[in-house]
Amino acid sequence: MNLRGWHAGKVAGLVLVLGALALSSIAACDQMGAKKSGGSRVQDTGKGAIKIGHYGSMSGAQATFGQSTDKGIRLAIEEKNAAGGVKGRKVELVTQDTAGKSQETSIVVTRLINDDKVVAILGEVASSLSLVGGPIAQKEGVPMISPSSTNPDVTAVGDMVSRVCFIDSFQGFVAAKFARENLKLTKAAVLYDQSQAYSAGLASDFKKAFTELGGTIAAEQAYTGGNLEVSSQLQSIKGAGAEVVFLPGYYSDVGTIIRKAREAGITVPFLGGDGWDSAELAKIAGDAINGNYYSNHYSHEEARPEVQAFVKNYQAKYSETPDGLAALGYDAAMLLFDAIERSWPGDGKPIEGKALAAAINSTKDFKGVTGTFSIDENRNAKKSAVILEYKNGVPTMAARIEP
Ligand code: PHE
Repeated sequence: MNLRGWHAGKVAGLVLVLGALALSSIAACDQMGAKKSGGSRVQDTGKGAIKIGHYGSMSGAQATFGQSTDKGIRLAIEEKNAAGGVKGRKVELVTQDTAGKSQETSIVVTRLINDDKVVAILGEVASSLSLVGGPIAQKEGVPMISPSSTNPDVTAVGDMVSRVCFIDSFQGFVAAKFARENLKLTKAAVLYDQSQAYSAGLASDFKKAFTELGGTIAAEQAYTGGNLEVSSQLQSIKGAGAEVVFLPGYYSDVGTIIRKAREAGITVPFLGGDGWDSAELAKIAGDAINGNYYSNHYSHEEARPEVQAFVKNYQAKYSETPDGLAALGYDAAMLLFDAIERSWPGDGKPIEGKALAAAINSTKDFKGVTGTFSIDENRNAKKSAVILEYKNGVPTMAARIEP
């Protein structure tokens, strides 16, 4: 399936999902007697703990995505509560597991809104799943911040949906620029996951940027996440004589693909996106991971004081080094608290969805672990990216690329 085929599939899938959602949310409203004030939902009572929701892949093929994000969010909550809470109110987190699946996602996002009565939602990591959760949050009037979904379409659903990460048009450019200018390569192959909006979108963003920078695309191949029978794709990439292979997939597939590529005699470097970001990747790929690069949202090696404090506190709490997802989860939660403080009048009044979303969307110069950033008119964060190189099984800072 080529990119166009993927889009057609996506549209058909979306029609089904939206149809199902329309039915389920009508039923939910009837049962719950959901309150809406002028298109703006009031979930809060104005007193007690402030309830926020997280939906993520706590289990399933990309389980480290949800788990790391949840740890980052929980660290932010712990620090905020220890410092007295949000205008005196403690924050309480409800986490719902998507298992990395779309059907689960629509169920759990609806549950967070109707049953758990959260005032705001953090999630998902995978763009395809934020594309399922976002329209529900938008329709129900509950603000949603995706910590890490980079596909441009995620925030296009409306004013309730924003993100604290950069988008894939930038990430594709970052990878292309690094390949052309730092590695000085001109011939690339692309191998992407046709079942993920993230991967298909980033592949096309990379191709565009790489050719604009004077490079050529020698081969383009696709696989389907979870199906790692890729020998024919690898043979055609090998035959095309590429100097670098762009592989914008998730770690759960990428590790095995790189290992198989080396076994098949492909010796050139692989270059990927943030979907590689997991401590599991080096375990899956073994030695084959070394000498490959990926773009990401931060490096735990950065000297900025926000990074150093975060890494130290995270290590103390969880005894592990935080990946980019943990940092983005932390930033999304902290930005949410900041927006509540700016928009909620307190005094026993409830936190209200529309006003909270407006405060999130007008955030300026927020000092996060993943950089200092503002939310732009498309509700995306504008910020720099890093390129990490795997050395001795560890992602090591190789370059920083500004927007
Ligand atoms: N950006 C990826 C997506 O949109 C998710 C991701 C972000 C994965 C950061 C790892 C690290 O699907």
